[in-house]
Amino acid sequence: MLAEARKALPYPETAMTQTLLLLPGDGIGPEVCAQVRRVAAVVTPDLRIEEMIYGGASYDAHGTPLTDETRAAALAADAVLMGAVGGPKWADAPRDKRPEAALLGLRKAMEVFANLRPAICFEPLADASTLKREVIAGLDIMIVRELTGGVYFGEPRGIETLADGQQRGVDTQVYTTSEIERVSRVAFELARGRGNRVTSCEKSNVMESGLLWKQVVTALHARDYADVTLEHMLADNAAMQLVRNPLQFDVILTDNLFGDILSDEASQLTGSLGMLPSAALGAPGKPGLYEPIHGSAPDIAGKGWANPLAAILSFEMALRWSLGRAEIADRVLAAVKRALDDGARTRDLGGRMGTAEMGDAMLKAL
Ligand code: IPM
Ligand code: MG
Repeated sequence: MLAEARKALPYPETAMTQTLLLLPGDGIGPEVCAQVRRVAAVVTPDLRIEEMIYGGASYDAHGTPLTDETRAAALAADAVLMGAVGGPKWADAPRDKRPEAALLGLRKAMEVFANLRPAICFEPLADASTLKREVIAGLDIMIVRELTGGVYFGEPRGIETLADGQQRGVDTQVYTTSEIERVSRVAFELARGRGNRVTSCEKSNVMESGLLWKQVVTALHARDYADVTLEHMLADNAAMQLVRNPLQFDVILTDNLFGDILSDEASQLTGSLGMLPSAALGAPGKPGLYEPIHGSAPDIAGKGWANPLAAILSFEMALRWSLGRAEIADRVLAAVKRALDDGARTRDLGGRMGTAEMGDAMLKAL
């Protein structure tokens, strides 16, 4: 159904030589990205893959987690795929030099305002979730998270010292009409290509930005998307409904902070965080930023245990949403399903396979 939605969006289909910028990053990032390379070599031998260091690794080498060179390469690529960033090693680095700052900086520089985070429960994994099979079997939710605004970027922000010696921490949650509209359009367009339902989540009962969010989504819906079923849900209720009855959702539309939280929650419904990809999209024709939802997993980094499927599925999303190669993406997705059907399981899925063995299973399935 993603393929259908993809057709509805004005991203170009192209046959020119394309470049994928690979940013393996930190922790398990390089291990999982190595498996993406193996898959790409089979399904897209013509794709140019560039690789640059990024995140904590870049901080160690260059004193900054995101060099100007890497930022420029990202903007010039057709798609960017990153592994993971961060780790305890950089916990004490100044905030603007922390690996996470590279991720936020790249999202902002690439203006990838719409973050697509699918939560799909693959049938063979329905017993791997902490929730009962009957609650999650058949789960197929698309979370559309606003990614370049809200409290993540709002000004003023900072920690200041008051006259009485106390400190005061400030963040600002802020949204404009156009920021809400452009991400909402993506959610409505996607919904048309799948279950045709959008649940918009905010806290309009307590937040001004939440009230504006609800008003803008309502008006846009009435104007351009009246054929799509729209429901508004308070974000706290949505968090509860996600574990109570997740099958009620089709597309969830929400802001940056609530989307961060709800997507982590949704990931657990699917069995493993190690399975979930994401796509961050900007204006038509601009490169998208693809990343597994999982973090750098410093506890298992270097052991060769990490599940590469989230990274491989992120590559699959890049093929579909930025590189105009939906048929190849279908092939990769089918291979993931086949590998799982054949019993391929890394440790996070209750199995014993290592990262490279899962890569082997993928190549066999392809
Ligand atoms: C995510 C992550 C990031 C975020 C962090 C690493 C900055 O949690 O992509 O969900 O909060 O957006
Ligand atoms: Mg998160």
